[in-house]
Amino acid sequence: VFSNVVRAPEDPILGVTVAYNKDQSPNKLNLGVGAYRTEQGKPLLLNVVKRAEQMLVNDQSRIKEYLPIVGLADFNKLSAKLIFGADSPAIQENRVTTVQCLSGTGSLRVGGEFLARHYHERTVYIPQPTWGNHPKIFTLAGLSVKTYRYYNPETRGLDFEGMLEDLGSAPSGAIVLLHACAHNPTGVDPTIEQWEQIRQLMRSKSLLPFFDSAYQGFASGSLDADAQSVRIFVADGGECLAAQSYAKNMGLYGERVGALSIVCKTADAASKVESQLKLVIRPMYSSPPLHGASIVAAILKDSDLYNEWTLELKAMADRIISMRQELFDALQAKGTPGDWSHIVKQIGMFTFTGLNSEQVTFMTNEYHIYMTFDGRISMAGLSSRTVPHLADAIHAAVTG
Ligand code: LMR
Repeated sequence: VFSNVVRAPEDPILGVTVAYNKDQSPNKLNLGVGAYRTEQGKPLLLNVVKRAEQMLVNDQSRIKEYLPIVGLADFNKLSAKLIFGADSPAIQENRVTTVQCLSGTGSLRVGGEFLARHYHERTVYIPQPTWGNHPKIFTLAGLSVKTYRYYNPETRGLDFEGMLEDLGSAPSGAIVLLHACAHNPTGVDPTIEQWEQIRQLMRSKSLLPFFDSAYQGFASGSLDADAQSVRIFVADGGECLAAQSYAKNMGLYGERVGALSIVCKTADAASKVESQLKLVIRPMYSSPPLHGASIVAAILKDSDLYNEWTLELKAMADRIISMRQELFDALQAKGTPGDWSHIVKQIGMFTFTGLNSEQVTFMTNEYHIYMTFDGRISMAGLSSRTVPHLADAIHAAVTG
């Protein structure tokens, strides 16, 4: 009965890793998926995560019961504090409901399904370009997806006017997906002043912000600075949604741990919203997994672990920032034609190089460097050892 099933293409991001794994070359380099690597090119298990896991293992009262549908209560409370700020009036007034979800993707999907069922406007505007999974998540959640201008390939920066124009002509009440920081794939973020203008425009048109926060702490090294965009929207008392992921900032990729928060106008609305979120989650996966959320909660509630986490997070962010400088310097030293200053200007895990799909294919075939076809490279996958190889490949791709 399944012989007529048509083979689906690999995922544009995760498929890069599949291709990389098949390559036998000793020089192969995976700059596709956004996953942090050490200077030695190895995945990093944070020391603070090891300590938290040890504490969990030593806890004799530990059990493996089902979590409630909405997840671990401590985790939810602490996650809301992390993104909105400990002194957030929305939290103090109990206007926020937070549910533990399967990392960023699961949080976006649960939020999308909730909106499709209970929100009056079914259109979600996503930036052009955006993370390849966004349109699929929201379409399958039952929303209709449109794009707003975001990136200007000529300046390799923000198309702020285009963004304001498109949001300005969106129907009143439309949902708008915003990357809280370190926009994926471009590495281009609005300034705080620009965020304030975006907020004013969106509030004046009753557009509903849905933040995707996958990189808090990863962009600048500061957890507070990377949540500023979200916080200015919450400070005005209005509603918003936020999806959080702990994949990158705690290196908990495979634990699939994240949270969806919905900020409401009143505590009563928040508790009703939560009751409906449970109806979305229960038939989807019943309740979320325990282990990753226990690690996160242990780190967030212990000041010693929390401090160690911020140091390790800053070290990861700093290493990525130094890779930007090294790659830029290497291209300058080679005299590679073109302006490469965007490599140091863009922030977060990715550089949107401007290389086209033919150049990417050339670099994969000739240099065994793997990256997505849109020319995005994961700076977190690069090290001082591999910068020269990448610079050689870019130089050859551009001059060849
Ligand atoms: C990425 O964009 O590489 C990451 O967000 C990982 C993923 O799931 O695509």
